[in-house]
Amino acid sequence: MPKQHTLFGRPVRLSPRRISLLLVGLGLFAFFTLFITLPSSIPQGPSLSKTLADHKIPVPKVPKIHNPFSSSILNPFRPAIHAPPEQKNSTYGGSSWYANWNWRSPFSSSVTLDENRSLLPPLKDRPPIYCYYDTTVQREKATQEAESDLLLTWRRAWWAQGFKPIILSAPEAINNPLYDELQRLNLEPTFKTDMMRWLAWENMGGGLLAHHLLFPMAPRDDAVLSYLRRGEYPVLSRWEGMDNALFAGTKTAITEAVTKALRHPERKDAKDFISAVSADTFLVDPKHEGLASYDPRTIETKFAKVGEQLGANRATGLQSLNYLINAHLHLSWLGSFPKGIAVVKPLPEHTTTMVQPALDLATWLTSCPDTPMPATCPPNLPKCSPCVATHPMKISTPARYRNTTGLYTIGTVPHPYTFAALNTLKSDIDIPWVRRKMNRDLWLAELTKEHLGTGVSGSARVITFKEAVAGDWATAHSIWLTAERETLPHDLDWYFGFAIPVNATDSGKSETPVPGPERRPKPYHDPGDGLLPTAEDLMLEPELMQKARDIGKSKEKKDIDVRNAIEAWNLADVEAWKFARAFLARSRVERLKWEEEERKYAGGAGSDKEDKRSGGWSRWTE
Ligand SMILES: *[C@@H]1O[C@H](CO)[C@@H](O)[C@H](O)[C@H]1NC(C)=O
Ligand SMILES: *[C@@H]1O[C@H](CO)[C@@H](O)[C@H](O)[C@H]1NC(C)=O
Ligand SMILES: *[C@@H]1O[C@H](CO)[C@@H](O)[C@H](O)[C@H]1NC(C)=O
Ligand SMILES: *[C@@H]1O[C@H](CO)[C@@H](O)[C@H](O)[C@H]1NC(C)=O
Repeated sequence: MPKQHTLFGRPVRLSPRRISLLLVGLGLFAFFTLFITLPSSIPQGPSLSKTLADHKIPVPKVPKIHNPFSSSILNPFRPAIHAPPEQKNSTYGGSSWYANWNWRSPFSSSVTLDENRSLLPPLKDRPPIYCYYDTTVQREKATQEAESDLLLTWRRAWWAQGFKPIILSAPEAINNPLYDELQRLNLEPTFKTDMMRWLAWENMGGGLLAHHLLFPMAPRDDAVLSYLRRGEYPVLSRWEGMDNALFAGTKTAITEAVTKALRHPERKDAKDFISAVSADTFLVDPKHEGLASYDPRTIETKFAKVGEQLGANRATGLQSLNYLINAHLHLSWLGSFPKGIAVVKPLPEHTTTMVQPALDLATWLTSCPDTPMPATCPPNLPKCSPCVATHPMKISTPARYRNTTGLYTIGTVPHPYTFAALNTLKSDIDIPWVRRKMNRDLWLAELTKEHLGTGVSGSARVITFKEAVAGDWATAHSIWLTAERETLPHDLDWYFGFAIPVNATDSGKSETPVPGPERRPKPYHDPGDGLLPTAEDLMLEPELMQKARDIGKSKEKKDIDVRNAIEAWNLADVEAWKFARAFLARSRVERLKWEEEERKYAGGAGSDKEDKRSGGWSRWTE
């Protein structure tokens, strides 16, 4: 019996001729299907071109928009785009930037049309805070120096909190049209001094007027500080129980109050401004937890030892007070980070040398400052936990960025060359290696793995990174340094608002030098974050690090080519690196510019003290 063939379950009788026809038909069908669907079924894009061209020129070119000329030549109908105009003071130390509201775009060059120019968020307006320092009073040299140190502490603290501290003196008051009137009146000397302060303030157009012993001691998002930072003070205000330590108001309101105090004082024998005007002149705000005032009464009751020193010798007493205030500023900063400091260290096996400066900074920040009264708390934070050298704050080295409240992050951002050289312990990176072996955007992927998970594009990671560096919340909770710097920036004190106890002593008071790296407490390393280096590998790191620095500066064509290839291959990592570098450079320029402006005025700004390290802090003697 011949074999029964079936088709769709029904018996079919197939002769050999029919079979060959069927086969030809099927063959034709398959042939056409293949041709019609082929182009769309094979994935297009980099993976194909990469495999095909693997041994030719696979180094990806930066997107066309990076070069304004290429796009206009290749596409004559597309209008040439002009790069945005250069902004004032927008370059520093090899970085340049452009500030704009759309700074959250992943790649700066799509806006700046220049791969070397980073797109940064606009600078926040800093509301001015004025302080009157009478330079006409004769002082001994030592006292004058001590006061100048105190003013430096005052300026640094307010600057770090986002204000523009400005010191006024007699010339600003004399410039006021009401000054002549004040001179003609026969007034109490203390009232006259107070009036000078107000005239100087009125002359500046209002804002905030603080005493130089009033300090912000709270986290950046404290309610009072946030209100003051907004820069709008519709009614003339003062703060309950703080006497004349702080006023806020508009020029109109101040002018009115000053005129009233001069022409129609409430009392003929008024000794200060507040008693010379009616009580309803001011709105009295009861809330001021974030402000610490070191007025004579507070010093006497809370810091009697410093009070005695002030009584015995004014200059020594003022120095002592300055140490005390600096220590309190530091303490209040430590208090806002109960979870400690995270020195981020992605792929920890070969990056120990790279993060060492960040770790040093963390160690200094967590060491106890020198102070004449170690067990005391700031006057506004009576429940603080004083710094105890035997229980330093926790330092950890997580491999991932974590956005946690109460944790301060110190980041070290490597150029992709540096990171590749260290991670592979390879000192002879060349273009073929980049093409065949290099993992794309490895650093950023590791850093944000926990925050964003895997399978996220480089551009999404860059956006998160930028938010973590420059977002509103970020600036008070982290600092990001580039790995290739030889030293830490030397104006970090201005970033934190107090003199960082560089090379501080163990106990905060003893004369023993800083413990060497081997004696310092080890930072906490989570084994889940990766292996730690072997002793041999660790020895290789410093040389590789130095080589990476040299390549970064090299002018040789060979080095530049490798660098360019790496940058083109790691667009996200290099964008992050340039962004962090430009962000830090700009904050330095912002401060330098302010110092430049301030130099014109009398009040002590612009002295050489600015960059003075806190070397003297550990030499504290009673
Ligand atoms: C960017 O900087 C590099 C090195 O500093 C330089 O070679 C390159 O020409 C610059 N690119 C532009 C568009 O200015
Ligand atoms: C971190 O958290 C804060 C507040 O919870 C938020 O405003 C900020 O955008 C977060 N930053 C990042 C990089 O996710
Ligand atoms: C801190 O100490 C180290 C080693 O003792 C020294 O190399 C460094 O210059 C010191 N830094 C400062 C700022 O004094
Ligand atoms: C800012 O720019 C002006 C003029 O362009 C220059 O004189 C000044 O030195 C710059 N300041 C800083 C801090 O770079």
